[in-house]
Amino acid sequence: MPKVTINGQVYEAEKGRTIIQVADDVGVEIPRYCYHPDIGIEGSCRMCLVEVKGAPKLVPSCATPVADNMEVRTNTERVHQAVRYAMEFLLLHHPIDCPVCDQSGECWLQDYYMAHAGHDSRYPLGQKTRRRKAFNLGPLVKLDQERCILCTRCVRYTRNVTKTNEIQVFNRGHNAEIGIFEDRPLNNPYSMNVVDVCPVGALTSADFRFKVRVWFLKGTDSVCGGCSTGCNLRIDHSARAVGGGIPGYTATDGKIYRTVGRRNVEVNKSWLCDEGRLSFHTLERWPRLRHIKDSTAQVHEKLEAIRKQHGEDAVAALGSATNTNEALFLMKKYFNERVDFRIGKEVELYQQKQDELIRRLDKHPNTQGAINLGLNGPLNGLRGLREAAEKKQIRAMWISFHPQLVGDDSPETMNELERLIEALEFSVVSTTHDFEWAHKASVLLPMAAWGEEQGTYTNYAGRVQLTNRAVLPPHEAQPLHVYMTELLQFSGVQVSPEPSAIFDWMSREVPAYAGMDYDSIGLLGTAPPQEVLR
Ligand code: SF4
Ligand code: SF4
Ligand code: FES
Repeated sequence: MPKVTINGQVYEAEKGRTIIQVADDVGVEIPRYCYHPDIGIEGSCRMCLVEVKGAPKLVPSCATPVADNMEVRTNTERVHQAVRYAMEFLLLHHPIDCPVCDQSGECWLQDYYMAHAGHDSRYPLGQKTRRRKAFNLGPLVKLDQERCILCTRCVRYTRNVTKTNEIQVFNRGHNAEIGIFEDRPLNNPYSMNVVDVCPVGALTSADFRFKVRVWFLKGTDSVCGGCSTGCNLRIDHSARAVGGGIPGYTATDGKIYRTVGRRNVEVNKSWLCDEGRLSFHTLERWPRLRHIKDSTAQVHEKLEAIRKQHGEDAVAALGSATNTNEALFLMKKYFNERVDFRIGKEVELYQQKQDELIRRLDKHPNTQGAINLGLNGPLNGLRGLREAAEKKQIRAMWISFHPQLVGDDSPETMNELERLIEALEFSVVSTTHDFEWAHKASVLLPMAAWGEEQGTYTNYAGRVQLTNRAVLPPHEAQPLHVYMTELLQFSGVQVSPEPSAIFDWMSREVPAYAGMDYDSIGLLGTAPPQEVLR
């Protein structure tokens, strides 16, 4: 392993890594625009120049591999001056847009100007080059050519990652600009990642533009619930739960405003698919269920009465592959293992890729988790439960329904659910939205949705990841694990409603989670078992 000295400190580095990568690994900050760890090296912005002992000129740290006994300095006056000059050059024709720019507050031009430049412009304002502003690259992404610094991250993303090549550099020299061919819009299923990778306000999200200033938002690390891949993301939501500030402007409404990719090299690198990124809109797609009319105490009484009269087997439950492991584990406890979760082809599809990048065909985040709990047993899924209910083998059920966050549940599923409820003597439906069919149930309970509860999902490869609560569920809605905690307490089992405590209990009983806890799961999840790593 080469030994490299950075700012006087000696580090061991992996052979073949570049100076900027080693600096990132050890926490030394080097400014950059064109370098992105998941897109590759370009070496064009000259922001990452560093001094290397023995080299006559400054070298681009993103394009220079480390060598044994290399001595690097990132903090000399010569380096600072080079970064200042690079910034002055990049800002020469930059518009004075910050007050109206969506990137303001998270713009790398602003940040590096404050950290490294701080110069006054030597270029007359009226002579700045004007270019096209705010035009659609595709249905979800807008380009402002004046703000672009030609780092080519977006070009290289469509060339190297999606391999769709929609974005190109047109013209040369001073006239060079980013654009698309007129008949080839940016409409691939992963198009919005270019907004994440653009370091400035040139590429913005059509969905998020002008909704809120970013400094009024708070980020909560979580994972996507849109399919069994479980991409890592950050949920940006109102900093205040509800109230205060200037309504409609300062994000005081307890809402999710956007999600952005969070880097996890083993799951999604830095990427999200567009459907998953926008899946938080499902929370507002239909009116939400808000109020509890019948208590869990009444539900427990009724279920107990049916158990006494018709036997244990007359009561069962249907969970959802979008419920957390914690909720499904408690459900299995209360319903004495008589729980299933399959409403469609989850088990057949959850490991199958939808394309060459990250999407998977099963649009549920926790199918592997439900399988780990053994919920794909003899009850035979929704259809099997409906048939058993029609034969009066099952008379009462708790049905937890979580609509798919990406796409639509099939009409057959909805039809089966209605038939199941009609066949039951007593039915409890806990669900997130005010669906008309659910009103046929004996008891209807409002359930917290994705982004409104904490827990774990197990992805297609067996990686256990934390999903976090970013916003509060509406009014009296509760996470399923809270309802299950209450039912268990009525039947005399003392259990904490804290998701981490439920996980600890589960880790003692379910082999797939042995030895794990929320600390060991952390921000990036646990490594999946080797034999399924792919
Ligand atoms: S649009 Fe953004 S990502 Fe693309 S080249 Fe310009 S600054 Fe870079
Ligand atoms: S690939 Fe799946 S998990 Fe990843 S962002 Fe898309 S829907 Fe979400
Ligand atoms: S980050 Fe190295 S030249 Fe741009």
